[in-house]
Amino acid sequence: ASQMRVDVSGVVEGTQLTILFLGKPVFISRRTPEQIAEAGAVDVDDLVDPVSRNPNGDFDAPATDLNRTLAPYEGDNTGEWLVQIGVCTHLGCVPMGNGAGDFNGWFCPCHGSHYDAAGRIRRGPAPENLHIPVAAFVDESTILLG
Ligand code: FES
Repeated sequence: ASQMRVDVSGVVEGTQLTILFLGKPVFISRRTPEQIAEAGAVDVDDLVDPVSRNPNGDFDAPATDLNRTLAPYEGDNTGEWLVQIGVCTHLGCVPMGNGAGDFNGWFCPCHGSHYDAAGRIRRGPAPENLHIPVAAFVDESTILLG
């Protein structure tokens, strides 16, 4: 299997690094406390897709904000880092980020899917939350994909 190391030391709070991995964009987001608080306040029962879909944890766990994030070290629960495959789960367009859409997350302009700050689908035709790749921090500033 292919792997890729990504230096995330230059990713400042409130920004997203997009890299190409196995032919798909991967969004590496370092979220602000406001985004984390907003996404954390959402009731999982209100979600279209209530499953975390995080292969780095329990895939079928509830799609709480924290369950979708990537911890830089064991025990970290700040939820600052969110790593996702940048492919709309509707028909595969690349969503726009930087707080796009009505839920301060990502917006897919192809058919109008709105994802929240945890990448969960909130409105529009996409059936699933943005997918999460296999990933892990290997040190505080390096993420290993794959
Ligand atoms: Fe994203 Fe259809 S491909 S809404």
